[in-house]
Amino acid sequence: MSAAPLTVALLGGGTVGAQVARLLLEQSADLEARVGAPLQLVGVAVRDTAKPREGIPSDLITDDAAELISRGSDIVVEVMGGIEPARSLILQAMAAGSSVITANKALLAADGATLYQAAEESGVDLYFEASVAGAIPLLRPLRESLAGDRVMKVLGIVNGTTNFILSKMDEEGADYADVLAQAQELGYAEADPTADVGGLDAAAKAAILAELAFHTRVTFDDVSCEGITDVTSADVEAARAMGFVIKLLAVAERTPDGSGVIVRVHPAMVPRDHPLASVRDAFNAVFVEAEAAGEMMFYGRGAGGAPTASAVLGDVVAAARNRVSGGRGPGESTYADLPVRPISEALTRYYVNLDVADRPGVLAAIANAFAANGVSIQVVRQDGHGDDAGLVVRTHLASDGALSRTVDELRSLDAVKEVLGVMRVEGEAGA
Ligand code: NAP
Ligand code: HSE
Repeated sequence: MSAAPLTVALLGGGTVGAQVARLLLEQSADLEARVGAPLQLVGVAVRDTAKPREGIPSDLITDDAAELISRGSDIVVEVMGGIEPARSLILQAMAAGSSVITANKALLAADGATLYQAAEESGVDLYFEASVAGAIPLLRPLRESLAGDRVMKVLGIVNGTTNFILSKMDEEGADYADVLAQAQELGYAEADPTADVGGLDAAAKAAILAELAFHTRVTFDDVSCEGITDVTSADVEAARAMGFVIKLLAVAERTPDGSGVIVRVHPAMVPRDHPLASVRDAFNAVFVEAEAAGEMMFYGRGAGGAPTASAVLGDVVAAARNRVSGGRGPGESTYADLPVRPISEALTRYYVNLDVADRPGVLAAIANAFAANGVSIQVVRQDGHGDDAGLVVRTHLASDGALSRTVDELRSLDAVKEVLGVMRVEGEAGA
């Protein structure tokens, strides 16, 4: 026999919210059986009540989110996005005793600690599986399944919009702006898509992943972040010529001596035979490397209304089951309290693309610049064209600082006409 109905209030009825409402209504019988109580959608807060919203009964729509929360629902789902009023509304909901499900990575990465603390004080659940990598179950495995292991590194593609853009540039030679417009139409992009292409969305997700992986508080400001706005079709072509593909990667790792963590987001060249290279369109894929478990790969749809709603609904069911049983999910775990170190301490391989004079001694001068800064060269490829030569150098592991000094020195050489591109290389054997 089912328990009394559990009420659900939805904040946001856009790309994700509309799909959450649809799934809650269409799958109500299955959800009731899985939870042990019916889930009753009591309202959907939006900005513009006049907008047509297919699948959401009009009598549920309201533009008064605070009033909807004040009804004291068992569960409040926040899919409106942004920092305010989302944060105040979530805090109001928790203070009223509602468990909260959110997909809002920007808010979690900016001020997750405040939300965790409020959840703790009110004795309610705070779940946010949909905030990272869309439909892919990733946060629960990190927080629960791997709670007995020691995570060493998390690396992957966590932004669907930029992966969609880079895939189209690589496969179709597509124009950046056209592809971004497509990604927006398909519901992948953030309300302000500069958060996607500027790497900020991926950085927020990297902070959330790092916090869960290393039991250490990591916020958005701790993440070194570079987006794809400077990636040119020439970079994409150069990568292709060398058997690589460019991906926007999020990397959270322990420092080489294990005393801290480094969290970074940047474009990187990945070998075409690496599993990440075949992750196309808005799909995401994340590798987690743990001491005992070894390497695991999580793959699936990273953006879009329905995939994201799937993750939201999983959290709704988890929170609802807790209500029925009287339990509560795990809270924040930051006991390890490791320092977050700057990206300059990270060791990566690099690709450097140079336009140089084609005359004797040039190669030696360039090799000297690398050697003088302690950067070891792995591969050099030269293409002559007229008086100039294109020179592509790939390095062994080097620190960001050593590579920056090398590039400065290269720029000062007469033989170097232009430094055309510098990019990290990830995923090579032994890297
Ligand atoms: P969206 O399509 O822009 O929808 C936002 C919804 O929230 C709209 O219904 C909007 O109302 C409503 N809203 C915004 N501000 C409001 C306010 N102050 N008061 C009341 N309602 C308000 O955004 P989305 O793509 O669904 O994303 C929602 C959240 O999910 C964001 O945090 C996003 O980062 C996250 N997320 C999105 C995806 C994805 O693939 N789209 C994936 C994972 C996570 P109107 O409709 O009237 O404008
Ligand atoms: N804008 C985000 C992306 C949505 O493109 O990945 C999913 O979080």
